[in-house]
Amino acid sequence: MQAFGSSKASAARAEERPWIQAGNNRREILRPLHEDWQPSQETEAAPGSNLTWHTLQPRENRWACLGQRPAIAWFTGLSGAGKSSIANAVDRALTAQGRHTMVLDGDNLRLGLNRDLGFSPRDRAENIRRAAETARLMAETGLITIVSLISPFRAERAAARLIAGDIPFLEIFIDTPLAICEARDPKGLYDRARAGKIPDFTGISAPYEAPEAPDLTITTHGCSVADSARALIPALLGLSAPA
Ligand code: ADX
Repeated sequence: MQAFGSSKASAARAEERPWIQAGNNRREILRPLHEDWQPSQETEAAPGSNLTWHTLQPRENRWACLGQRPAIAWFTGLSGAGKSSIANAVDRALTAQGRHTMVLDGDNLRLGLNRDLGFSPRDRAENIRRAAETARLMAETGLITIVSLISPFRAERAAARLIAGDIPFLEIFIDTPLAICEARDPKGLYDRARAGKIPDFTGISAPYEAPEAPDLTITTHGCSVADSARALIPALLGLSAPA
């Protein structure tokens, strides 16, 4: 298990990012997230340039009302790795301890907010951007937000951390090897992908970039879901303890 990142470290990482400055209830969009964005013929200005950030009451008021502080736990791993099961177990354990939580699950988001997106690299990047922005909004309200997405690309996961700004952000690698995910195949998707029926399937015909320095690595092979969830629960209880 690796050390957890501190909120100070998250804030330092956010400062390195040129396009968003986060913190203190204010965010300036300096330039767009997608590097291939081009201004339209109608406007030479970057998106957001005619917009004004409206300062709201200090978010600490909301957090005090809830009696906790927020955190984002970002799960990444292959399909069938166990992300959703562990997210669900962590979520239930935190609720049982009186914490306020939400889970943003990839399949669920793709049935609603992200229903217009497919699995091209560009669509996956947009999927992750929307999930990260949603997680940030939920965290601003004070929720512990668990995000469970394959999120196969390092750059997009780094962008998600950036969007989180100064909210504590833990990248959690659900480290289940492809062969085991494929043997489990809970939704029958690997079978269909091997048969060429699902294009761009992560691990088969599309890449998965494992994290190089996750805040926590969780293994699942030979463990119960409860075992896999165990390390993360006290970490999130600690991060979300009231100030
Ligand atoms: S991500 O790559 O953009 O992060 P996300 O987590 O939202 O993916 O969705 C993954 C889920 O979509 C999988 O659990 C699986 O049920 C389904 N799925 C359908 N097609 C694919 C595909 N080509 N690659 C991966 N997952 C797919």
